[in-house]
This record gives sequence, C-alpha cells and structure tokens, in this order.
Amino acid sequence: MNENELRVSKIKDGTVIDHISGGYALDVVKILGITGREKRVITIAINVPSKQFKFKDIVKIEGRAPNPKEVNLIALVAPHASINTIRDYKVVEKLEVKLPKVVEGVVKCVNPGCISNSNEPALAKFYVECEEPLLLKCHYCGYMMEKSDILKQL
Ligand code: CTP
Ligand code: ZN
Repeated sequence: MNENELRVSKIKDGTVIDHISGGYALDVVKILGITGREKRVITIAINVPSKQFKFKDIVKIEGRAPNPKEVNLIALVAPHASINTIRDYKVVEKLEVKLPKVVEGVVKCVNPGCISNSNEPALAKFYVECEEPLLLKCHYCGYMMEKSDILKQL
C-alpha cells in the first residue's frame, strides 16, 4: 500500500465475496438480487489488482449471507470466489466455492424444445464438461451451455 492507494473499508457483519473473476461482480450482485435500495452498505470493486490472478472483483454486503442456490450460481459465474462470513469485523468462515460434477435445479436449459422446459418440467440437470471456459451439457437434450447463456438468465 502506498499513498496512492485507498483501502476499501472493512465491514462489521455480513459477507465478503472475494476473488471474483475480474468483470463479474455485477453478475454476482444480480445473483444476490441486490438493487442497491435495500438500505444496506454494499461495496463493489471491479478489476482491482490481485496477487493470485491479475485482476479480481470484490463484493461486500453488510448484514446479508447468500443462500445455497445463490452460492451454486456464484460458483458457475466466479469459479475461484471465496465467500467470507464476517462477524464483529472478523472472518469467521471462509468458503471456497466449488463446481459440482452435476448441476441440478440451478439454471435452465436454453433449448426451448428440451423436455426440461416442457409442460411437465423435469428438474434441469447438467454435466460440467469444462470448468474454464464453462461448458455445461444438458442431461436431457445434450445442449452445450456456455457462461454467456447463464449470464442471460440472471
Ligand atoms: N474483510 C472485510 N471486512 C472485515 C474482514 C475482512 O471486508 N471485517 C475482507 C478483506 O478485505 C478480504 C476478505 O474480506 O478482502 C477476506 O479477508 P481475509 O481472510 O482477512 O483476507 P485474506 O487473508 O487476504 O483472504 P484470502 O486468503 O482469501 O485472499
Ligand atoms: Zn436441454
């Protein structure tokens, strides 16, 4: 840190989602359903320098934790994210997100003819064919979904 850097404030209670792939913070914010009008303190940093990768994004939210479905979606969009739970300024839990082999009930198949989108919908199910760049193969129709297909659903 030198005089040209400004440290982003620590939070007291809430969640810090760190090591988000550079450029995806606003997608994480969307996953969490945050509009900015919740009267919570939200800090969003985009494309800040990172030791691990070149750039990263960070999202800090006071007084809110992601639910399991949101964590699964964050793993799809930001596969290296760590979700830190903060209590009284301390990191009390650090969860490194992990993509499962099978992604069920989290995203929809983009093929309109897929049985998972029919009148008797089956729970959408995908196999993770590749983690980076993300490639999900639909269990029912074999359609290959990319990250951009997922971002459109958020
Ligand atoms: N943080 C915060 N408010 C706190 C405590 C931590 O905003 N009261 C943020 C830190 O700035 C950091 C993240 O939460 O971005 C994780 O904190 P910590 O585990 O202390 O940092 P690192 O050791 O750098 O984490 P990692 O090893 O995951 O990079
Ligand atoms: Zn399908």
